Amino acid sequence: MNTFLDLIASHGSCRHYKLDPLPAATVEVIVSAGQHASTSSNLQACSVIAVSDSSKRAELARLCGDQKHIAEAPVFLAWCADLARLERVAELRGLKQKSAYVESFLTAALDAAIAAQTAALAAEALGLGICYIGGLRNHPREAIALLKIPRLVFPIFGMTLGWPQKPVRPRPRLPQSAILHWETYNSEQDSALQTYDHEMAATGIYENRQVKIHDRPGEMEDYGWLEHTARRVSKPTRIFLREILKEQGFPLE
Ligand SMILES: Cc1cc2nc3c(=O)[nH]c(=O)nc-3n(C[C@H](O)[C@H](O)[C@H](O)COP(=O)(O)O)c2cc1C
Repeated sequence: MNTFLDLIASHGSCRHYKLDPLPAATVEVIVSAGQHASTSSNLQACSVIAVSDSSKRAELARLCGDQKHIAEAPVFLAWCADLARLERVAELRGLKQKSAYVESFLTAALDAAIAAQTAALAAEALGLGICYIGGLRNHPREAIALLKIPRLVFPIFGMTLGWPQKPVRPRPRLPQSAILHWETYNSEQDSALQTYDHEMAATGIYENRQVKIHDRPGEMEDYGWLEHTARRVSKPTRIFLREILKEQGFPLE
């Protein structure tokens, strides 16, 4: 048995936390693990803002779409793509950073995501629960003002951190045939999608809802991952982001 692989497979997002505080030293250990992750050209183009103040967390909970686990968890981490530090690095050596490109933002966002996931695993290894919070991009201007985030830094997602109230329930994932392609990309994924749809419906996550079958009038079927996901991806999301990224110094040229 490989306990590290077991730990990875036992992941589940935690949305119910005990109110116990989290020592700053524990947050430092977790973020240190994130800092050890691989980083593009060793640029380390990310920063993380740890928020423990309860009134600030309550405000963040509101900004992120009234997600109460943000107010409940003792610490909220705002993971940021950060090119501000590299601007200074270039300046210290008499150069100018060329950071207006999609590639620059992507590099920084990837660095932040890789560090965040490494930190998340460290937190889970310590028995803590985590939940990523994309809701941090619901009202980026307000989040940027609240956290006093400077130009060339962008909060790409948050993460709640704390002691789980109860054990998390890992969710099944897609059959590997949909994800792992050997040698060339395989577009024939329908049977994997159907299998997963039934598997997710069987977990009870969707409360055994029924929906109309779209191409068979009058017939009903389980509301599963397919319907849930199709509805999700058919709505435009956060269409204001490009404009706010530009305001923050990321024109994405
Ligand atoms: C970038 C990102 C943003 C997310 N945003 C939220 C969020 O705002 N609120 C939330 O409750 N969960 C959020 N999640 C958690 C996902 O819903 C969750 O990871 C997914 O449903 C799979 O479930 P699991 O993590 O329990 O395995 C987010 C996950 C990621 C990776």
